[in-house]
Amino acid sequence: TYVVTEACIKCKYTDCVDVCPVDCFREGPNFLVIDPDECIDCTLCVAECPAEAIFAEDDLPADQEHFTLLNAELAKVWPAIVERKDPLPDADEWVKVKDKLDQLER
Ligand code: SF4
Ligand code: F3S
Repeated sequence: TYVVTEACIKCKYTDCVDVCPVDCFREGPNFLVIDPDECIDCTLCVAECPAEAIFAEDDLPADQEHFTLLNAELAKVWPAIVERKDPLPDADEWVKVKDKLDQLER
């Protein structure tokens, strides 16, 4: 499966949503996740994300491995998002910030 990582937090560009053939993105207040039960590993979303937040589970950077469980957990409680929308207002600033997991809203 594919996994959304920390770079998406407080950005939520949503370009990924438009290309997903199985609509497996789920939306929280300031982060998106991929439902691992629905993702068919098509890879299309990876190149679309301006924050480069999406990785194959097997290719996750070492410091992002905990996002596999977080995607699975939040995908069970967040609603589907099937259309692109505007990014969050300060996305272009937050995309440069590392270590922002403490900003995640559930
Ligand atoms: Fe959707 Fe394909 Fe990305 Fe999986 S890899 S989330 S199926 S676009
Ligand atoms: Fe997030 Fe990138 Fe999609 S910032 S909403 S994973 S395009």
